[in-house]
Amino acid sequence: MDKIIIEGGKRLSGTIPVSGAKNAALTLLPCALLTEEPLTLRNLPRLADIDGFQHLMNQFGISTAIAGSRPEDFGRVMTLQATRITSSVAPYDLVRKMRASILVLGPMLARMGEATVSLPGGCAIGNRPIDLHLKVIEALGATIEMAAGYVRAIAPDGGLPGGRYSFPVVSVGATENALMTAVLCNGKSTLHNAAREPEIVDLCNLLVAMGAQIEGIGTSDITIHGVPRLHGATYMVMPDRIEAGSYACAAAITGGEVLLKGARIEDMEATVQALRDAGVHVEPKADGIYVAAEGKLKPVTLSTAPYPGFATDMQAQLMALLCRAEGSSVLTETIFENRYMHVPELNRMGARIETKGRTAIVHGVDKLAGADVMATDLRASMSLVIAGLAAEGQTQVHRLYHLDRGYERLEEKLALVGAQIERVGGD
Ligand code: EPZ
Repeated sequence: MDKIIIEGGKRLSGTIPVSGAKNAALTLLPCALLTEEPLTLRNLPRLADIDGFQHLMNQFGISTAIAGSRPEDFGRVMTLQATRITSSVAPYDLVRKMRASILVLGPMLARMGEATVSLPGGCAIGNRPIDLHLKVIEALGATIEMAAGYVRAIAPDGGLPGGRYSFPVVSVGATENALMTAVLCNGKSTLHNAAREPEIVDLCNLLVAMGAQIEGIGTSDITIHGVPRLHGATYMVMPDRIEAGSYACAAAITGGEVLLKGARIEDMEATVQALRDAGVHVEPKADGIYVAAEGKLKPVTLSTAPYPGFATDMQAQLMALLCRAEGSSVLTETIFENRYMHVPELNRMGARIETKGRTAIVHGVDKLAGADVMATDLRASMSLVIAGLAAEGQTQVHRLYHLDRGYERLEEKLALVGAQIERVGGD
């Protein structure tokens, strides 16, 4: 397995191109199921999860063509066409590798009148049930059956009538599945306490571009007027706000300054506020966001929350930055029950972090020391890279497959701005 070797202490300076958003791409790709016409997605990040989703779509008989990107380009253009669906089953061996596969349940049901998806396993950051996905799809008129580790959704003979559902817990994925189902229902559907993440807005914008009728985009109350069919579209995936926030933390912890090219500040106001509270200069520019360290880092106290609150996907990266703050920070993780696996690894690098249930107290330290560390999940891996960039000496981050799921060519992007970083194989 590959690992990354970082010689810490280099001040980052320059421009980092921000890729298309993984968590938008993973809900835009299954929209190809909703039409027989071609769907072209631009600015797709080159990530393991995107490759996995492409393979899953091929499994259904959907053609996928990658066009027009040179090896040195970031991002890709993919055209998908679901002229004929040859299978409506998402098998265990694909789903177990990528939880986001559950996002084919709704659109496959809407297109074919039935869909069968393997139940996703748990995952490192928590058990991550899919009960809300199933409840909202039932509310839209489907019958749900569970058998042998698979979930099967079936529409009535006359098609899905649509319906009303109020989410007891904000769920990004369940909101996405609901939207991709409701757009082809026979009647009107209303969703309450829906997720409002920018990736949901990106999904709604694509669905509208395909001919869907959606009101309340970007709010927690969404009304969808079902239409008989959707047409193809060409759509640009939004920039990745979590990748941008991650590199902002990397620049800040090294005392550096970067332009995050392509980042949209309106997508990441809570992250920007946290960085500013930590004493980091953040300034919107015409072509991105400029981030610069400004003297000592200050401690921050915050809780993660659904958008527009502070993103849980940024918690580990901010924690790494706060290891170097003057004073103690208090972070509370409210979304997932086990999202502190980066803590023991950061402490092995000289950090002083105590966790009590969902709260972590981060006592700032004068320096971090390079070490061999183990990635455990996607965002935890990035927090170890961020700490390694500021640590004295060498850090080796092992089990890079976690990182490759969410960060396009990370070592190339960091080397662009002066990091001494290389990827080596054969771990
Ligand atoms: C999406 O996951 C993201 N993944 C996650 O990013 C992100 O952390 C999460 O939203 C929260 O923002 C993708 O978009 C592919 P949820 P999702 O449904 O949809 C509970 C990353 O690092 N819940 O909003 O799975 C759940 O257990 C990944 O890029 C239920 O109880 O998240 C959690 O506690 C990690 N029942 C909370 O809701 C359900 O049916 C939020 O989960 C669904 C969720």
